Amino acid sequence: MSALRTLDDLLAEGVSGRRVLVRADLNVPLDKQTGAITDDGRIRAVLPTLGALVEAGAKVVVCSHLGRPKGAPDPQFSLGPVAGRLGELLGAPVHFATDTVGDSARSTVAGLADGQVALLENLRFNAGETSKDEAERGAFADQLAAFGDAYVDDAFGAVHRKHASVFDVPARLPHVAGRLVLREVEVLSKLTADPERPYVVVLGGSKVSDKLAVIEALLPTVDRLLIGGGMCFTFLKAQGLEVGTSLLEKDMVETCRNLLERSGGKIMLPVDVVVADAFAPDAAHDTVRVDGIPSHRLGLDVGPETVAGFSAVLSQAKTIFWNGPMGVFEMPAFAAGTRGIAEAITKADAFSVVGGGDSAAAVRALRLDETDFNHISTGGGASLEYLEGKTLPGIAALEN
Ligand code: 3PG
Ligand code: MG
Repeated sequence: MSALRTLDDLLAEGVSGRRVLVRADLNVPLDKQTGAITDDGRIRAVLPTLGALVEAGAKVVVCSHLGRPKGAPDPQFSLGPVAGRLGELLGAPVHFATDTVGDSARSTVAGLADGQVALLENLRFNAGETSKDEAERGAFADQLAAFGDAYVDDAFGAVHRKHASVFDVPARLPHVAGRLVLREVEVLSKLTADPERPYVVVLGGSKVSDKLAVIEALLPTVDRLLIGGGMCFTFLKAQGLEVGTSLLEKDMVETCRNLLERSGGKIMLPVDVVVADAFAPDAAHDTVRVDGIPSHRLGLDVGPETVAGFSAVLSQAKTIFWNGPMGVFEMPAFAAGTRGIAEAITKADAFSVVGGGDSAAAVRALRLDETDFNHISTGGGASLEYLEGKTLPGIAALEN
C-alpha cells in the first residue's frame, strides 16, 4: 500500500487557496417516509479528511452519490439534506450546488473562499457517472476535474465501482488517498495478509448470491465461517431441511451443498431460528429447531442456542470479520440474534472488523458502543471485494 500517495503528502505540498475535489461516500440511509437521515456514520467518517483540508485553507469541493438514481435528477435522492448535516458536523455552512457540473456547481465553486466547503448535487444525476462507455464517462470526468487542482478519494464505500468520479477523475488530476480510504485499506490488508488465528468470519444478510464470491475466497483462509441471516435458509435447505416460507434462493441450493461438502467442517450454520407468521414487526413468532420449521412460517432471526454456539467460537477468536445482520434487526422482535453476535464480538479478545453498510448501521441502531470494535468499515460491497482479492478500480486509479 506504500504506492498510495496520501492526504499528508498533499498537505505537505500546501493546499491553501487551491481547489481540492474530494470524492466522498455520503450515501446515507434515509427514512422512507420523512426523507430524514437515519444514520450519519458515513458523513462522520469523512470529517477527518475534510477538517484537515479546511484547516489548511483549501477550497474544498465535495462530490458523492446517494442511492441509485438513473442518470437524471430525482428529488428523492438529492444530497441537499446531507449538505445540512455535513455543515452541522463541520461547524460551518456547506455551500450546496443544486446541480453536479452545471451553472450552480460552477458558480458555487467559483465563489468559495479559502477554507470553505461546497457539496455538489448527486453524481448519479448524470448518466456519465456510471456509464460503461469510456468516452461518456470521460466527458463527465473532464467536467468534474475542472473543479479541482487536486483530487482526494475518501469514498471507500465506492472504490469497487468503475465510475467517473472514482476511476476517471484521478487520471486527470494529481490524486491522493484520504484518511478514511487509507485507514480502511490498512485494516483490511491485515485480514488478508496474515491474520492472527483463529480467524473467524461471520456472514449474514439476505442473499447467498451476493456473498458467494467472498465465501469461496475466504474458505481456504478462515478457521471458521459462521453463517446466519436470510442466506442461512438456502444452506439449511442444502442440508435437506425444510425452511417453510423463509427466504430461499432455489438456484443456489446446489452451490451451497457443494460449499458445505468442500468446507471441511469450517462452515457453521444455525441450530435454531425464530419463525414468524409474516414479515411484520408484530407477527406472532416462536423459536424452533432448524429441523422443525413449520411449512407456513418464515425464519426472521437466529435463535438463542445459535447465538450461544456462535459466541463460543467467537470467544476463542483472535481475528474476527463480520458482515451482514443475523436477522431482521430493524424489528425489535427479530433483533436478538444480531445483538447477541455483536456483543460476542465485542467481548472477544480479538482484532474485530465490522464490514459494511447494514452491519455498521446495525451496530449503531442497536446502540452498541462503536469503540468496542477495532474498525467499522464504511464499505459493504467494497470491503467484501477487497477480501475477495479483487482489484478495486478506485484504489488502482490512485496507485497509478
Ligand atoms: C454502498 O452503499 O454500498 C456504496 O455507497 C456504494 O453504493 P452502490 O452499491 O449503489 O454503488
Ligand atoms: Mg452496495
